[in-house]
Amino acid sequence: MKKINVGIIGFGTIGAGVVKALQSKKAFLKEKSGIDIIISRICDNDLKTKRPVKVSKSILTSSIGKVLYDPDIDIVVELIGGITPAKDIILEALRQGKHVVTANKALLSDSGYEIFNFARKLGLSVGFEASVGGGIPIIKSLSEGFIANRIDLIRGIINGTSNFILTKMAEEGINFAEALSIAQDKGYAERIPSLDISGADSAHKLSILALLGFGVNAKASDIYTEGIVDIEPMDIQYAKEAGYAVKLLAIAKRTRDSLELRVHPTLVRREHLLANVGGVYNAIFVKGDLVGENLFFGEGAGAKPTSSAVVSDIVAIAGVISSESKAASRPVLFKKTVKNIKRMGDVETRYYIRFYTLDKPGVLAKISGILAKYRISIASVSQKEKSASAVPIVMMTHEAIERNMAKALKEINRLPMIKKKTVRIRIEG
Ligand code: HSE
Repeated sequence: MKKINVGIIGFGTIGAGVVKALQSKKAFLKEKSGIDIIISRICDNDLKTKRPVKVSKSILTSSIGKVLYDPDIDIVVELIGGITPAKDIILEALRQGKHVVTANKALLSDSGYEIFNFARKLGLSVGFEASVGGGIPIIKSLSEGFIANRIDLIRGIINGTSNFILTKMAEEGINFAEALSIAQDKGYAERIPSLDISGADSAHKLSILALLGFGVNAKASDIYTEGIVDIEPMDIQYAKEAGYAVKLLAIAKRTRDSLELRVHPTLVRREHLLANVGGVYNAIFVKGDLVGENLFFGEGAGAKPTSSAVVSDIVAIAGVISSESKAASRPVLFKKTVKNIKRMGDVETRYYIRFYTLDKPGVLAKISGILAKYRISIASVSQKEKSASAVPIVMMTHEAIERNMAKALKEINRLPMIKKKTVRIRIEG
């Protein structure tokens, strides 16, 4: 039986999950794939902390070189995250003729294009199924299953931590900080949780999806990104009363020959499938010209689902290495199908707006006058219960241009009767 040696760099939550999966599924994977996958080395700076898995001391090392320069290692699995030193490790592993598996969305968002092209030149594979959507096989689906399609839309919930927080806030009425701390305890959040709640993690993942779906090499800095930090329980409540859920969506949408790329909290109609995706679950909606509409749903964070994706890449690459076929690698395929990324100011969408104003005659007339000046048409208005001296007024608009909305809100926020910065959340679907 063919043996494939794997070196794992990073023995944290995900690393330990992958080791556990490879150990507990060894016989199962052997039977299914006909390959014996051997963990030859595990590398981490910290070899003292107890892990939920037993490994022989002889394979543990704190020296990355023991993985990169071991001629017997076929596949290097990078699970340390972040850009430095992960990028150097991956490039060096490729230079040493090793295939790579990574879950590193921040790195692939920044340098995926360069890494994939480098690997292609060397005839090596880079597996990155775990970088988006935890255990959901979205990378394989976009690059293989949907290869014949022109992709028109990718819209999803791709940060489990944010979804968990928004769900807890909506269902249990707990506050943001409490919900975040539970997500951290469960191991969903990034080491730096601001990546989750600022929308950056979703932007990293969206740039990977945009490369596969539209051939666009967009870094996270090319993606308009807003997180969930400013979402208040009252907005979740008002949205609910109007028949919507608040979700952090990542959107890649073709409009003529340009691509909208954006991450922001979004009001989604209660009947929409995405509105019903709760907790740490992720869901990704993909529309292709042949395949039509598809929805992927699954656990998007945590050691088990992520290790499911990492192990699938290891087995797939091991299969290519051991096959008799001439193709020694599985190149990442992408082709540009749009001209440019649309400027956020040009995006057209509907809006939920919540003003916090004095309750006196003429306020609504003043606000609606400014909205009309910027050609923003109001679909509904509702005045909520007064608290202290001010009152929340919630408006839903028809489609409006983002640039106009920004100008209108700037003007409205300067009015003396406006007591707090106006909240605006986009509406989709
Ligand atoms: N922190 C990420 C999330 C983990 O919450 O989705 C998976 O990438």
